[in-house]
Amino acid sequence: MNRISLIRLLIRKRKLNNYLEIGVFNGKVLFRVKATFKIAVDPAFQFDVLRKLGKTLLNPYNLFNRYFRKTSDRFFAEDAPALFAHRKIGIALVDGMHEYQFALRDVENTLRYLDDNGVIIMHDCNPLTPEAADSFEAWKARDFTGQWNGDVWKTILYLRSTRPDVHVFVLDCDHGLGVITKGTPESMLSYTPEQIADFTYADFDRSRSEWLNLKPAGHAHSFFDS
Ligand SMILES: C[S@@+](CC[C@H](N)C(=O)[O-])C[C@H]1O[C@@H](n2cnc3c(N)ncnc32)[C@H](O)[C@@H]1O
Repeated sequence: MNRISLIRLLIRKRKLNNYLEIGVFNGKVLFRVKATFKIAVDPAFQFDVLRKLGKTLLNPYNLFNRYFRKTSDRFFAEDAPALFAHRKIGIALVDGMHEYQFALRDVENTLRYLDDNGVIIMHDCNPLTPEAADSFEAWKARDFTGQWNGDVWKTILYLRSTRPDVHVFVLDCDHGLGVITKGTPESMLSYTPEQIADFTYADFDRSRSEWLNLKPAGHAHSFFDS
């Protein structure tokens, strides 16, 4: 299971057609999604018109993609209210800036426009090394080399501690796929925002399974079957 197969599973099982991707890079995921309404947000898309054309020939759904070359914060402030006024988000892939406060704003903003049946997938929730969980500045100092998941994991901790209206778990695959849906949580945590801000990678490593509500990849099938 990876983010692409999870998105396909959701389109198949939940018949969700409106797709939002925050942080698109070269479009590896975006261009493969078969959904009728696709919104792409990234301040620095890494593809040109020829790649778009090629990907549209391979997957005609790409003809109708809407591209927003800006940060997700600007997108939610300037475009989202009109764009989602009559059409809710079915599936969102949150994969932009991998720092906790950014990822959290992306999830909370997306939740405002999420269909009751919709699903947010958040990439990079389960860093496997301290380096992968570094700050953006530390990754930049390494010249953007190596795996970087940042501290997106804190977003899961925050949602599980503060939101009795959302159900959250993380699939143990593809760097940790957070799955966020509307509804009663399976269980909650009781950390304050101050505690979450102070937690280190070592704290996370000791408690990752409990904090993330970590599930085997196959859990996606049983969860979305029910
Ligand atoms: C890891 S890549 C996304 C990969 C893509 N979703 C995939 O699955 O192949 C992260 C992207 O987030 C973008 N990004 C960085 N800061 C952002 C922000 N504030 N808002 C939206 N996107 C951002 C970067 O430009 C980069 O292209």
